[in-house]
Amino acid sequence: MPSGFVESPFLAATYPSIAITIQKGFIMYKINSNYTKLPGNYLFSTIAKKVSAYKEANPEVDLIRLGIGDVTQPLVPAVIDALHHSVDEMGCAETFHGYAPDLGYAFLRDRLVERVYQPLHAEVSSDEIFISDGAKSDSGNIQELFSVDNTIAVTDPVYPVYIDSNVMGGRCGSFDPSSGKWSDVIYMPCTRENGFVPAFPERTPDVIYLCNPNNPTGTTLNVNQLQDWVDYANRNGCIIIYDAAYEAYITEKDVPHSIYECTGARSCAIEIRSFSKNAGFTGVRLGYTLVPKDIVQDGVSLHDLWARRHGTKFNGAPYIVQRAGEAVYSDEGQRQVREQVAYYMRNAHTIKDSLLDMGYEVYGGVNAPYIWWKTPEDMTSWDFFDYLLTKAHVVGTPGAGFGPSGEGYFRLTAFGSYEDTVSALDRIRRM
Ligand SMILES: Cc1ncc(COP(=O)(O)O)c(C=O)c1O
Repeated sequence: MPSGFVESPFLAATYPSIAITIQKGFIMYKINSNYTKLPGNYLFSTIAKKVSAYKEANPEVDLIRLGIGDVTQPLVPAVIDALHHSVDEMGCAETFHGYAPDLGYAFLRDRLVERVYQPLHAEVSSDEIFISDGAKSDSGNIQELFSVDNTIAVTDPVYPVYIDSNVMGGRCGSFDPSSGKWSDVIYMPCTRENGFVPAFPERTPDVIYLCNPNNPTGTTLNVNQLQDWVDYANRNGCIIIYDAAYEAYITEKDVPHSIYECTGARSCAIEIRSFSKNAGFTGVRLGYTLVPKDIVQDGVSLHDLWARRHGTKFNGAPYIVQRAGEAVYSDEGQRQVREQVAYYMRNAHTIKDSLLDMGYEVYGGVNAPYIWWKTPEDMTSWDFFDYLLTKAHVVGTPGAGFGPSGEGYFRLTAFGSYEDTVSALDRIRRM
């Protein structure tokens, strides 16, 4: 054995057939221990386990799943045409495309400005848009721009990515399983008592996450309520991360489609968008984040930081997918995807109206594909999950899985087929 080397008992035990030596004084790498603080994804794995145990014990039962937030309808013809056409382009030397530009193709960014923001009179330029592979990546990655000692505030219940990504970044403190809360996170309860409108927190946060229309509650902030948050952020030096993944489902006039409809939002808000729910791209992957150039902190532009991050860590959404995204905002594409959204919203109205008719208390479902059902007789959300599974053979999502204030509520989604939705309600009526 060369001098300075020793045998490693661990490696010797792992690989007995190879003689392995390691350098003396060698220090094993350390992991990012923030990851070990994350509790397992109890919600969906627990649901899956409960459902498969029930299925195994009752193989004849036909379950209807209104739990997950994934779409079920196929891509619309305008999108399929654009995909076919661009796939053919990729097979020809003259029209082949390699790496996409860092921010995304101008044909898509320009169209988004023209078709999404100009009709809203929102002042946005196409070089403020960063095309990505979806809102989950962007809403999880955006925290990298902020110092580790920043405090985040989230609405409660909440889309779990906002908290979990900040836990990974070391910003959340420790988790208390009894309260279901992180010690350093500011929770802003959204319940029927406050009309699902978060109150300004007692302690001023640095980064505020708002999802409007909201997942999981399906409720919304109207333009005045959102304006109050924009004013609050500007007054207190906060940044708002605004997730508008469900914007396409808005039906009421006073609900904003973009945070840039609010005065002053350009200096305090980053908007994240997705093609998943407005055009069924959950399996295709496309989204974008808009970082206005007006957001400057300590002389540093957040737009420049995000451009740097995007250029270093992301190599672009595929050309064919960006062409498909462009087709979503063609006249034909818009007509077709709006029909699809209307299909899901018919489900939402059917669920909401039927449950109300049965005497239940329900929220959401007007500007969002989610129905937030108050559990009857103060049942816990997990007890209600079991009850619905065994009595109606319908699978939903217990509200407690989205945060402590989700306890006592239950989420149903409108993303199933109309036929399944109607049958689920028939079963619920009979249970
Ligand atoms: C609030 C919210 N943001 C983002 C996403 C993820 O969107 P994408 O499919 O674009 O990653 C979801 C998906 O369910 C969501 O509910």
